[in-house]
Amino acid sequence: MKYRFSGRLKPAALILTLLFSTFFSLFSQEAVALVPQPVSLQLTGDTLEVPALSLPDGFPAAWAGLLESCGLVLQSSEGAVSLAFYDPAAGQLPDPEAYRLEIGRSGIGIVASTDSGRFYALQTLIQLVKNGRSSGSFQLPVGVIEDSPRYSWRGLMLDESRHFFGMEEVKRLLDWMAVFKMNRFHWHLTDSPGWRIEIRKYPLLTTVGGVGNHSDPQAKAQFYTQDEIREIVAYAAARQIEVIPEIDMPGHASAAARAYPEISGGGNHQHPDFTFNPGSDATYQFLEDVLEEVAELFPSQWIHFGGDEVHFANAQWKDLPEVRQLMKREKLRNLSEVEFYFNRRMAEVINGLGKKVIGWEEVAGAGLSCDKDNTLLMWWRHDRSRDMRKILRKGYQVVLTPRIPCYFDFVQHVSHQSGRRWGGFAGIDRLYQFPDSPSLRIAKVREEQIQGIQGSVWTEVIHTPQRLQYMVFPRIAALAESAWTPAELKNEEAFYGRLRFWLDEFEAAGLTFFNPLDPESTPEVYGP
Ligand code: ACM
Repeated sequence: MKYRFSGRLKPAALILTLLFSTFFSLFSQEAVALVPQPVSLQLTGDTLEVPALSLPDGFPAAWAGLLESCGLVLQSSEGAVSLAFYDPAAGQLPDPEAYRLEIGRSGIGIVASTDSGRFYALQTLIQLVKNGRSSGSFQLPVGVIEDSPRYSWRGLMLDESRHFFGMEEVKRLLDWMAVFKMNRFHWHLTDSPGWRIEIRKYPLLTTVGGVGNHSDPQAKAQFYTQDEIREIVAYAAARQIEVIPEIDMPGHASAAARAYPEISGGGNHQHPDFTFNPGSDATYQFLEDVLEEVAELFPSQWIHFGGDEVHFANAQWKDLPEVRQLMKREKLRNLSEVEFYFNRRMAEVINGLGKKVIGWEEVAGAGLSCDKDNTLLMWWRHDRSRDMRKILRKGYQVVLTPRIPCYFDFVQHVSHQSGRRWGGFAGIDRLYQFPDSPSLRIAKVREEQIQGIQGSVWTEVIHTPQRLQYMVFPRIAALAESAWTPAELKNEEAFYGRLRFWLDEFEAAGLTFFNPLDPESTPEVYGP
């Protein structure tokens, strides 16, 4: 029988189904704790014993390592179950990331047209192994899973300027993103508290600009060398994750200005030297040089150039002679027009490097091309859904990361004290219901322009790896399901049932996490 999640089963039917399936099998379809929930799951009730697994020639070593790390024995001995890859027939799969996983009585087949599809089938297989693992015996449910993502952008952003976490923590996040089939790691590497990416042409960016963080302006310089960046990019790529660097401009630039004061456009008392100087040729040369090194380091098709919150502290621009000359020359009437001129000029630089542009939603006023092969905007001001509608109407492709429920520095439970809370908080329930909540209905009208959703981890109030984990886990699981599983197949109660299994996995992995099903069992890990 083909089983599709379609809302809630009636209680009596649910009890009968559960009794029937658990009697015949370890695996009831409802009880298999897959996250994200696949599009279609048909299990026969039989099981396949896997004493050892034999892999096809050319199987990637990194993927074999993932299978081994969940305890599977990989060898082609007699009795080993064979795993094989197949190409799909034309039109068989709906999406490049789609896959079909077939578990028969004597072997496993994966049908996919890309490495992403094959990798996601493998992740589902590993989740099934984890579900069936008992005292050294490996059993899989016989059946067929057909699956494909709702959105192409299933993202997580990490701000390492406010607080720096380092290679080990980033790799841990990438590992879990891969488990949950997330595919975009947006790395916020520069901001006012610290510059975290080595740029060979401007060494002071890291030796001076890397000093300090949000808690301690004197903290020793912390940053990623170019070799470390390459290592993270490769680590992510092996997990089908694209790393998108963000170099924030023309605001949030204080760290760069500490290192190279000549490119500062000033700031204010609260945000000193907050901006780059948009009237100075030296600024454009500097940023072009920086972006050139960034473009080489990151194979991603995208560069994120920020563009947020410039109005916080750009009032000094009007006193700079170079900006006044620029305004005269380009007939710019006010500082917003100066900002948009800067955006357009930098977008040209990014396109000239062969990359597409991502900006925060404020960039929408700059008049950048809304061609989907050129520009992507991130909507973040949850209290301004009218702006989101406006940018959709202009024709832009959009990634949704509204503060509530997508910013993971917001508290996640009503009882929590530490973290942002602006008339509301970012509970796992709201995240699970996202983006299908009524306030976003307009987005549905232009669903084809919504590239996806993203959790964004700003770190003013996240200062240790333990607190980082506590704020990310388990919200990442709800985010992943919202990004992957079609709206009509989402079921919050069923998700919480599956989440129990994943909380145990988080515990076994030594993570610090929040348990929304029993909040008192996981006391809040406080911020600064
Ligand atoms: C943002 O939160 N400033 C994008």
